Amino acid sequence: MGRNIAIDGPAGAGKSTIAKNLAKKLGYIYVDTGAMYRAMALFFLRRGIRAEESDRIEEAVADADVSIVYENGEQQVILNGENVNGLIRTEEVGNMASASSVNPKVREKMTELQRRLAKTSDVVMDGRDIGTFVLPDADVKVYLTASVEERARRRALEYEKKGIEVSVEQIAKDISERDYRDMHREHAPLRRAEDAVLVDTSDMTIAQVEARLMELCENGKKGGKGDFFA
Ligand code: DC
Repeated sequence: MGRNIAIDGPAGAGKSTIAKNLAKKLGYIYVDTGAMYRAMALFFLRRGIRAEESDRIEEAVADADVSIVYENGEQQVILNGENVNGLIRTEEVGNMASASSVNPKVREKMTELQRRLAKTSDVVMDGRDIGTFVLPDADVKVYLTASVEERARRRALEYEKKGIEVSVEQIAKDISERDYRDMHREHAPLRRAEDAVLVDTSDMTIAQVEARLMELCENGKKGGKGDFFA
């Protein structure tokens, strides 16, 4: 059994930046589970499947093989043999990932892969249901959040850096819709695990958040197993 750090939270809370850096510092593998759901979503979109066509989504799941590999320490998502890392960071794919991930067949497939990774490696894994469902026995659990306005501002900045023009208002609307869907779905909805430490990053710098999480990891803090990292 590897050592497992679970980081959950809504879209744009800073999970991937923080989790990636934390993994580097700890010498663990970073597992971005959102990227796996995005790769599945890309597969559905390419097939011309719409979010509300749950029958077609269920049917298509068996044809999508998602796996991850690491290149220079960076996670790469492989969809049926193709590296799709550069194709999954769009609003269209993100919204489809949020919509298609309500499907239990999709979740079952992704959860299995994620648990296998955590069993064999030390991981920092981020997502929506890691502390509550995928790795309920994780050694450290964090729920990372921030206000909708701040999350939309950060996402817009990310797009701007890539030269993509976006409206902050539209992103805020998308984020609110995704929050609602992710938190209200029937299977493994986004919520803070009872033993997860809440970190609101609205007024924190990345460095401050990282320091806080390192502190939690060093203390083995989850609200339980205090001696894990001793
Ligand atoms: O973290 P992200 O924005 O890349 O995730 C995209 C969508 O994938 C998110 O809106 C919901 C879904 N997701 C999920 O259901 N469970 C996870 N563990 C990770 C992501």
